[in-house]
Amino acid sequence: MNLRQIALVRSSFALVQPIASEAATLFYDNLFRADPTLRQLFKGDMTHQGQRLMGMIGSALQLLDRPAALLPVLRSLGARHAGYQVRPQHYDTVGAALLLTLEQGLGSAFTAETRAAWTELYGVIARTMIEGAQEPALSS
Ligand code: HEM
Repeated sequence: MNLRQIALVRSSFALVQPIASEAATLFYDNLFRADPTLRQLFKGDMTHQGQRLMGMIGSALQLLDRPAALLPVLRSLGARHAGYQVRPQHYDTVGAALLLTLEQGLGSAFTAETRAAWTELYGVIARTMIEGAQEPALSS
């Protein structure tokens, strides 16, 4: 990701922050509509889960310019996700639900360039998490 893309994801995420809980609800609605079988993977309270998801995306955005700190966090998050029965193909479904949620939440502020920056960011996060799931011994 280049600096402009990092600035775009940070400024658009800041616009979502005030409506974080609505965005999280919208995200899970989009996700479970796309693949209802994913619902059974989530055991906890969905409000809390939504807060964790938004919190983790926020932390990743803060650490974007310090990849040495970010990558191990994402690898171990990915290894834990393998334990939640999350499989590599689920990452595409989650990525599509995330982009749809941003589009719904941001409206015209979600420009083509902002979408491209989020697609890039999610790709990096998903690839690193999947890598961590394949090497659990290295990421624990
Ligand atoms: C950007 C990618 C993702 C991020 C940032 C993320 C973030 C998180 C966080 C912070 C937790 C809390 C538990 C922990 O830290 O280990 C969690 C749990 C979980 N995530 Fe994710 N996740 C991502 C992708 C996915 C995908 C692709 C799935 C597949 C459906 C998924 C399903 C789950 C499940 C099932 C749990 C456990 C929920 C429970 O306790 O019931 N996540 N996720």
